[in-house]
Amino acid sequence: MNELIKRAAEDLVKSKYAISLTGAGISTESGIPDFRGPSGIWTKNPDAERKAYERYDRFKRNPKEYWEERLSGPSLLGDLEKVLPNAGHDALAELESLGVLKCIVTQNIDNLHQRAGSKKVLDYHGNAFILRCFSCNARYDLKEFDIEELRRADQLPPVCKECGGVIKSDVVHFNEPIPSDVAGKSVEEAEICDLMLICGTSAVVFPFANLPRIAKVRSRTVLIEINAEPTPLTEEGISEYLIQGKTGHVLPNIVEEVKKLPSLP
Ligand code: APR
Repeated sequence: MNELIKRAAEDLVKSKYAISLTGAGISTESGIPDFRGPSGIWTKNPDAERKAYERYDRFKRNPKEYWEERLSGPSLLGDLEKVLPNAGHDALAELESLGVLKCIVTQNIDNLHQRAGSKKVLDYHGNAFILRCFSCNARYDLKEFDIEELRRADQLPPVCKECGGVIKSDVVHFNEPIPSDVAGKSVEEAEICDLMLICGTSAVVFPFANLPRIAKVRSRTVLIEINAEPTPLTEEGISEYLIQGKTGHVLPNIVEEVKKLPSLP
């Protein structure tokens, strides 16, 4: 593994525009379960995954019921206010501050990249601390609406201050389109990058899993996976190499090797 860590550091320092794609695997060391790993949420409770597939339809059919269900119990991922970024998040934030990493496109809704200090983060599946207007895509901080008060006053769902449209969580549910602004910017990043660091994702959910394939189309792009297990990207030869291990261990070691190299951009 050490050879590959050194190789990744050299590839990063040689790159002109490196980005990182991340999934639930980078947050497991913060105590947030992933979905499809050995103790993942869907692995342990397939029924929860089936229910998750129904959520978007329920929102469209009855936004008030969607909100009442959201308020009725804890989030699948637990109390995200209480979790902290781990060494993997910190390492990606440091690569950005060193000028090596230009952007993160994450599937995670936990806001941990932002809390670790990463500035340019695209929340591809939304962000649990943001609300979004279903009509005009206007986004609000969760705290801008007193949802409990709206429920007591029987005024759910919250409505957009810009256009009066219905507001939902920014979190993108299964079968819900990726918000067009985030989708467009993410494809742009995949098209311009010359290095893609793919961390902690099983790479089985589309359209996110298209992003490495978009980057791969240009032969000069180096795609590096850091994951606990091989994925379809490994098996299909989309990624040039897999560093098999924990992101919280591998990423800080890559940062240490990057800092030893002379030519930081
Ligand atoms: N370090 C490296 N890899 C890890 C770690 C870790 N500490 N912990 C878990 N992994 C790996 C798992 O082995 C798995 O291959 O990370 C991957 C996580 O895959 P998933 O659980 O499928 O998560 P993700 O790829 O982010 O899922 C994509 O599916 O359910 C939807 O919207 C949800 O955004 C999510 C999407």
